[in-house]
Amino acid sequence: MNIFGRFFRVSLWGESHGPAVGALIDGCPAGIALQPEDFCHDLERRKSGQPGTTARRETDRPVLDSGVFKNRTTGSPIMIRFANADTASGDYDLINKYPRPGHADLQAYHKFQGFNDHRGGGHFSGRLTVGLVAAGVIAKKIIPRVKFKATLISAGGSKNIGSSVSLAVVAGDSVGGLVECRITKLSPGLGEPFFDSTESLLSHILFSIPGVKAIEFGDGFAAASMSGSRYNDPIVSLTGRTSTNRCGGINGGLTNGNELGLRLAIRPTATIGQEQLTIDKATGKKAAICFGGRHDACIALRVPVVVEAACAIVMADLYLAHRTVNGTSLKQIKL
Ligand SMILES: Cc1cc2nc3c(=O)[nH]c(=O)nc-3n(C[C@H](O)[C@H](O)[C@H](O)COP(=O)(O)O)c2cc1C
Repeated sequence: MNIFGRFFRVSLWGESHGPAVGALIDGCPAGIALQPEDFCHDLERRKSGQPGTTARRETDRPVLDSGVFKNRTTGSPIMIRFANADTASGDYDLINKYPRPGHADLQAYHKFQGFNDHRGGGHFSGRLTVGLVAAGVIAKKIIPRVKFKATLISAGGSKNIGSSVSLAVVAGDSVGGLVECRITKLSPGLGEPFFDSTESLLSHILFSIPGVKAIEFGDGFAAASMSGSRYNDPIVSLTGRTSTNRCGGINGGLTNGNELGLRLAIRPTATIGQEQLTIDKATGKKAAICFGGRHDACIALRVPVVVEAACAIVMADLYLAHRTVNGTSLKQIKL
């Protein structure tokens, strides 16, 4: 099962080394201008190529198989497909025998009784996020006024990202990173009470991105050691504008009209060029294996645009929910 959203519904499909990966999107309003070129900017930002990213090169050319006619969405499900061309599946014979520590190889094997496609991590590969970015492009078009900006602010604990990443590459190791996302021009009152709070839905989709290990909104974990007099954001206008933003733009699970700010911890990549301890799946015997092959030494370098897409999917869903559930006509939605 792999579906997210209620009014703007996204399903991701495919395996890293299968014929293709992509997204199926249901609930997109009809009449939105959409053509393959619209995806280029965000897809480029996710691509590999910079130092510290995988040597795998895909064209990431989106094929719109359904839901678009004469460059406008039709209102029926949109199928977007990306061919997998640059696969080197032989590199992954080793992981079929020896699961990578920290990756999903062994867990997928158990869950799917060995029927899973292990090549390149199969359905658990970062490759799946190309479909998420594409769905995010459409979500951004549903709410064009809202702006999403995610940035990698540190890698391996250092603000000197380039040097941190190159040290890891030289050592055959990997590093994690901290990504910050800011969402502006949101209306107040988005989010539903309790289970579908804005934080709940954002966390749900953001934790789906492979490699995300922690999320905080506003001051997040630091709030636990603050007093209320310091933490509470003073309200300075009837619309809900506040002079500080420690809560990250959300109160009671509802957006408060201020900037929504969140940060994510991205783990260091599981696949590294050093020997690691694992077991032989057939015999259960311990083994020290160097997996090597092509991989991102720092996943976090490619994650910011994926985070933006995930946030856009949630915010589009919440706008559509607000319009449907609360019966509110939202002037912000310009189709
Ligand atoms: C854009 C992107 C690229 C990734 N590239 C790699 C990679 O080259 N090698 C790897 O081991 N993991 C990579 N990952 C992370 C794995 O997919 C992830 O660690 C794995 O599925 C286990 O999930 P978990 O880390 O959330 O537990 C990538 C993730 C993303 C989002």
